[in-house]
Amino acid sequence: MAIRAQDVQPWLGTCRLRFVVECHEEIDSTNSEAARRAKQGAPEGTVILAERQTAGRGRLGRAWFSPPAGNLYCSVLLRPNVRPEVLPALTLAVGLATAGAIANWISQGVGIQWPNDVLVRGRKVSGILTEFVPAAAGPGAVIVGIGVNLNGRRDDFPPELAERATSVYLETGGEVDRAAFCGQLLLRLDRRYSQFLLSGFQDMLAEWQQWDVLRGKQVRVREGVRIVEGRAEGVGPQGHLLVRTERGVSEIVAGEATILNGGGT
Ligand code: BTN
Repeated sequence: MAIRAQDVQPWLGTCRLRFVVECHEEIDSTNSEAARRAKQGAPEGTVILAERQTAGRGRLGRAWFSPPAGNLYCSVLLRPNVRPEVLPALTLAVGLATAGAIANWISQGVGIQWPNDVLVRGRKVSGILTEFVPAAAGPGAVIVGIGVNLNGRRDDFPPELAERATSVYLETGGEVDRAAFCGQLLLRLDRRYSQFLLSGFQDMLAEWQQWDVLRGKQVRVREGVRIVEGRAEGVGPQGHLLVRTERGVSEIVAGEATILNGGGT
């Protein structure tokens, strides 16, 4: 059954954000739609959901596999009055909300690979794409796009993803009520967003480190054209990845990390 707004909304009664959930059967990308809405002046808390995306986008210009009716494709429009430098940390806060929601269904093995891939025993179950939409005047909008593989079976993944991706169904053997999942995720996002606006990411740092799958591992991190190799040492208060190299500790603002040599320290 398609996700319906009236099945998500009951979870949101205690939220500070005034979520308004809008469901589409098919859309190019929920992030693109949320960005179009932001430009038209839509309020904070606008949520765009779709059963399928024809042009789902991932980080670093990649496509996001978006087949119909089994997953969650969700974008939330936020209007935080903060400096753009703090947005990487906001994304990490959303990663915490997402990992928490997933761990509610999968009790063991859930972790976060910096910046915000949610993994279950090394396989990706969720990704987050945060995009900034500038405004002609005043602060811009932030679109937080969350994709979660919920009810996909092994054969549903294309061969190139089959070994690297998983779904909540594959990990638990049970079908997920997608509307309930979405409601729980938005509730957690609301809490983390309030915490972030009040005290910043610093307040969640210790908790984030408990989900960190890279900490202590030998990693290669690509940040644009720069490549850093060393031992991952967690994240700093701004959400930047810290990597110890022969020349000291490098701070990486945005990029992609790979674990080297089976991850040994
Ligand atoms: C990544 O891991 O590369 C991020 C993936 C983000 C995918 C979600 S699905 C909902 C929203 N709409 C998009 O086009 N992308 C995000």
